[in-house]
Amino acid sequence: MSFGQFPQIRMRRMRASRALRGLVRETRLSAADFVYPMFVASSADRREPIASMPGIERLSIAHAVTEAGTLAELGIPAVLLFGIPAAKDQEGSGAWDDEGVVQLATRAIKEAHPELLVIADLCLCEYTSHGHCGVVTPEGSVHNDATLKLLARAATSQARAGVDIIAPSDMMDGRVGAIRAALDEDGHHDKPILAYSAKFASAFYGPFRDAAGSAPAFGDRRAYQMDPGNANEAVREAQLDREEGADILMVKPALPYLDVISAVRRETGMPLAAYNVSGEYAMIKAAAAAGALDERAAVLEALTSIRRAGADIVITYHAKEAAQWLQ
Ligand code: PBG
Repeated sequence: MSFGQFPQIRMRRMRASRALRGLVRETRLSAADFVYPMFVASSADRREPIASMPGIERLSIAHAVTEAGTLAELGIPAVLLFGIPAAKDQEGSGAWDDEGVVQLATRAIKEAHPELLVIADLCLCEYTSHGHCGVVTPEGSVHNDATLKLLARAATSQARAGVDIIAPSDMMDGRVGAIRAALDEDGHHDKPILAYSAKFASAFYGPFRDAAGSAPAFGDRRAYQMDPGNANEAVREAQLDREEGADILMVKPALPYLDVISAVRRETGMPLAAYNVSGEYAMIKAAAAAGALDERAAVLEALTSIRRAGADIVITYHAKEAAQWLQ
């Protein structure tokens, strides 16, 4: 058989050897791209499995410190902390308690592993008894501007505890600006903000809400999280966050929103994170456990795709195992 007429058509030439494939590879994946989310509970000294997320546990502070050491050894540069407080209240006051679970965990992790970056998720839903991400009015809706004050207070408390990057995930309008102003006023000019810019109202957060006990007690989050049909709106949200002073932007979830990752990256030119969320993790785990796919290959392909779409940073529960596979 001859392709002699078109000697230039030889895509296969570039796939001939492993070394050559390596030289021309456009997207690389390494442990240095990963952020590992951790659920830290202020409970007794134990690890507690999360049923829908095999391999992921709620950790006491001591166990979180041990886990942080394992991550640092694997070359994973950062953790994202979620707090599970002992008690919740109407306001979510655990979020700005200087002795709150995230504040205590941050101090303990930074003391033991100063080189590991601690990113703190900033939201009220893990701390409120109603499970919403902000102040709930008597009519049952979330009050945007009243929530900003509480978020700013929580951000300052996290910064004082030594958090390296503040990551607001609440989706209130104007929160990046409010948090930036509060941080600056308290002397934390150097603390970057990683804004969950385009956070979609997604079914893929299901296992997380189990893990953090943060499912809303009434209603849903569609008034403040985004409609899955909207990509242009995601770009506008991202641009607003940039103007308000965000240092890094985020799209969440990741795999069902690769087009949004790509658009936000192209339109903003900002450092970009993508959050491969709990439901995306659970889906691969369940399929692998059922023998339907090769877990290692599927995970590495999924994470590579998130990078190829334009994310610099991949926040993923697969980080530990993927880092091992990539070694
Ligand atoms: C809280 C928050 C959520 C997630 C991260 N921060 C849940 C939500 O909005 O209900 C989900 C992460 C995941 O599913 O892994 N604001």
